Amino acid sequence: MASTKVLLLQLLLVSVISVVSASHYWGASTTFTYKGNNSDGTHKVRFRYRDTFDQCFWSLSWRCTSGNCGYVSGSKRTVIDSSNNGPKFDRLLCETETVVTRNVPSDKPFQLRADSCCWIGTRNWVVHWDVLTGVDLGKRSDTGEPNKSPDVTILPFLRIPQNCPRTYKLMTFDPDGDDVRCRYGNLRNIECSRCDRPAGFHLDEDSCTLHYISSTANPKVFGFEMMVEDYSKGHINLFYSDGSWSHRHPWPRRRSKRAVSYPTTAARPWWIPAATPWPTTTTMTTTQRPITPYAPTPPLSQLPLQFSFLVDPPAPSCVEGVYLPKLVHPTPIHGEKIHAEVDSSMEIRVKAQASLAVIQGIIISGPSNVTKHKTTHNEFVIRWTPTADDLGEFFPICFAVESATGPGVIRPPVAIHSHSHSHFHPTPTSRSGLYHSEMRCVVVEVKRKIVQSHVICNESSMTILVEKASFSRLSEDHLRLNDPSNTICNLTSNSTHVIGVVPLNQCGTQIEEDDDNLIFKNEITTYEDMRNVITRKHLLEVRFYCQYPKHGKVSQSFSVHRKNVTVWEKGMGTFTYGFEFYEDNSYRAMINPNSYPLEVEIGTELYMKIEATSSINNTEMFVESCRAAPYDNPNYRKPYIIIANGCKVDPTVDIYPRAHNKQFLFSMEAFKFIGLHDQILH
Ligand SMILES: *[C@@H]1O[C@H](CO)[C@@H](O)[C@H](O)[C@H]1NC(C)=O
Ligand SMILES: *[C@@H]1O[C@H](CO)[C@@H](O)[C@H](O)[C@H]1NC(C)=O
Ligand SMILES: *[C@@H]1O[C@H](CO)[C@@H](O)[C@H](O)[C@H]1NC(C)=O
Ligand SMILES: *[C@@H]1O[C@H](CO)[C@@H](O)[C@H](O)[C@H]1NC(C)=O
Ligand SMILES: *[C@@H]1O[C@H](CO)[C@@H](O)[C@H](O)[C@H]1NC(C)=O
Ligand SMILES: *[C@@H]1O[C@H](CO)[C@@H](O)[C@H](O)[C@H]1NC(C)=O
Ligand SMILES: *[C@@H]1O[C@H](CO)[C@@H](O)[C@H](O)[C@H]1NC(C)=O
Repeated sequence: MASTKVLLLQLLLVSVISVVSASHYWGASTTFTYKGNNSDGTHKVRFRYRDTFDQCFWSLSWRCTSGNCGYVSGSKRTVIDSSNNGPKFDRLLCETETVVTRNVPSDKPFQLRADSCCWIGTRNWVVHWDVLTGVDLGKRSDTGEPNKSPDVTILPFLRIPQNCPRTYKLMTFDPDGDDVRCRYGNLRNIECSRCDRPAGFHLDEDSCTLHYISSTANPKVFGFEMMVEDYSKGHINLFYSDGSWSHRHPWPRRRSKRAVSYPTTAARPWWIPAATPWPTTTTMTTTQRPITPYAPTPPLSQLPLQFSFLVDPPAPSCVEGVYLPKLVHPTPIHGEKIHAEVDSSMEIRVKAQASLAVIQGIIISGPSNVTKHKTTHNEFVIRWTPTADDLGEFFPICFAVESATGPGVIRPPVAIHSHSHSHFHPTPTSRSGLYHSEMRCVVVEVKRKIVQSHVICNESSMTILVEKASFSRLSEDHLRLNDPSNTICNLTSNSTHVIGVVPLNQCGTQIEEDDDNLIFKNEITTYEDMRNVITRKHLLEVRFYCQYPKHGKVSQSFSVHRKNVTVWEKGMGTFTYGFEFYEDNSYRAMINPNSYPLEVEIGTELYMKIEATSSINNTEMFVESCRAAPYDNPNYRKPYIIIANGCKVDPTVDIYPRAHNKQFLFSMEAFKFIGLHDQILH
C-alpha cells in the first residue's frame, strides 16, 4: 500500500517535470470596474488582470465559462515589477498587468476562467492553476449603478523566516463600501486547483487577514489559492434590463470579539468596514450566534487572489529593524488613502532600516505604469500618474522592502525578453539571507485636478503657472514658494495666472537624485499670517517638479552639421548638449557650422567638444559612451565603440583638460566604415 503511494508521487513528479517548460506561474489577482455603456447599448467593463510568471511575456488567457461575457475591445499589457530574488529553484518573477476592456451586451452575471500548468515548485502540491472571476452588472438598488469590485492586490511573492510569525492584512478596499471577505478557494478545478489550506497559517475571512504562525523552511513555496468576494451591508436588489431582478443579503457575520474590539470609531482604521449592520429581523446579543433567517445569496463579485509564500530558514532575530527591514517615516501606514489627480504624478516615499542587514530593494504591485526608484539617500519612491480614464477609481499599491545579509554577490542582470520597459538591474544578493519587511498597501483615489497648474522646465528654471480661476477663494497675496527670502523668488501674476519662475538652485528648490534622473522640486503653499490661524481651512499646496535625465545622447556627423541636440524625458525637463568641431586642440576656433559637410582625409585628427547647457551647480558632465555609426540610428547593430563606460576604447582618442566640468573635449583620427559610404555619425 505504502509503496504504491510512493510510486504515484514519483509519477506525478515526472509528469510535472515534463511540462515544466510551458510556464511558471506565481499568482494572480483581478479587479474590474463598470465604465458606463457604449452607444450601441453594450456595457463597458474594464478588467485589470495582474499575473506573475517567471518571464515577462506570459500572461493568463481568460475564457468565458458562464453567461454572456461579450467581446474584448481593447487590451494592453504592461510590466509592473520583476525580481530575480525568488527561491532557489525559481529565481525569476515578473508581474504584468493586462488592462482589458470588454463590451458586454447583457447585464446578467457572467464568469471568466483561466487555467493551465504549472505553478513554480510548490510544497503543497499545487501544480495546475485555476482562476475564476465572477461579474454581475445588475443595477444595485442602493447605488443605482452596477456593482464595483473590491480593489484587491497583493505582492505575488511573500517570504518569511520560519521563526518569525507575521500578519498580512490583505488590501481589500471596496468602492461601494461593501463587506469584503477572503476565503480559500473550494470549487476544485474552478476556483482552485488543489484548494489547499496551508498548515501553519490562519486566515481571518472577515477581516481578510492572513497570519503566518509557524512552519518549517523549504525551498519550495506554498501556493495560495484564495477568493475575494463582496457582500452588500444591507439588503439590496439587483435589477436587470430584461426586467428581472435578484435579491442580495448581507453576509451574516458572527459577532466575534475580534470584530468589536475597536474602542472608538476614530481609532478604527478606515479600511475596516464601518459597524456591520445586522439584519433587522434578528435580535441577538454579542454572546449569541446569529440565526440566519435566510439562505445565503451569492456574492456581488468574485475575484481570485493567488500568490506564492516562501518560508525561509530561521532568522537570528525576528525584531524588525535588525535583519527584517523596519518601515519608518515617511512610509505611509497600511491602508492609507492617497489622493492623486489626473495627469499629475503622485509619489509614495518608502524608507526602511535594518541594522544588521543591507537594504536592497523594494518590490511593488500596483496599476500599470507605476514605477519605483531608489534615491541616493536610500529611500524608495513609487510614482504613478493617473490618466483621465482612471478618474473616480481607486488603485491599490502594495510594497515591501527587501534586505540581505552575507557576502554580497553581484548577479548579472537577467536577460528577459520584454517589449515594454522591464526593471531588471544587477541585484546584489547574498547566499545567507534575504528578508522582506511587512507588506503595506495604500489605496490611491483618482480625483479631478482641482488646482489647474502647468510646469515648464528649461535648463535654468522651472516656470509654474497656476490658473487663478481654479482657487478663487484664496488670495494670491498669501501664496509663496518654499523659501521666499530672495526677491527673485517672488510670485508674480497677471489677470489669469499666478506665475513663479523658480531657479533650479534657489528659492528652496530641493534636489533629489536616482540612478537615472535629477529631480528638482518646489511647492507653492499658503502663506500663513500667524495672527490669523483660522484661514488654515483653505490651505493650498501645489507641488511641482522638473525631472532631467542624467544620461543624454548627443550625436554629430562628420559631414552634416545639425542643431544642438535636446534630450527629452517624459516631456518634463531637458538639458541641451552642444556638439561642435574645432580647428585644433586649443579649442579656440570652432569650425563654422555653415562650412559643413566637413571634408576630411582618413587619419586626420578631429577635435570635438560636447558641452551641456545647464545652470545647476555641482553637476558634472561625464561622457559615458561614444559610438560611431554610418547611419543616424541609435539602434544600429554594429557601431564602432570610441568610448565605453567613460574609458577610451579607440586608441587614437585623446581627452583634453576642460574649462569647466560641463564640458568634454576630445579628439580622434577620422576613419571610415569599411564598405559603407563616407558619412560617419557619432
Ligand atoms: C446608457 O446609459 C444612459 C445614461 O447612463 C442611460 O440613460 C441608458 O438607459 C443606458 N442605455 C442602456 C441600453 O442601458
Ligand atoms: C502606460 O504608459 C504608456 C506610455 O506612456 C501608455 O501608452 C499606456 O497606455 C499606459 N498604460 C496604461 C494602462 O495606462
Ligand atoms: C528658462 O525660462 C525662464 C523663464 O521663462 C527664462 O527667463 C530663462 O531665460 C530660460 N532659460 C534658458 C536657458 O532658456
Ligand atoms: C519680494 O520679496 C521680498 C522678500 O520676501 C520683499 O521684500 C519684496 O518686497 C518683494 N517684492 C515684490 C515686488 O513683491
Ligand atoms: C498670464 O500669463 C500666462 C503665462 O505667461 C499666459 O499664458 C496668460 O495668457 C496670461 N494672461 C493674460 C490675461 O495675459
Ligand atoms: C548650441 O549650444 C551652444 C552651447 O553649448 C550654444 O553656444 C549655441 O548657440 C547653440 N547652438 C544653437 C544652434 O542653438
Ligand atoms: C552657482 O555657480 C555660480 C557660478 O559659479 C555662482 O555665481 C552661484 O552663486 C552658484 N550658486 C549657488 C546656489 O551655489
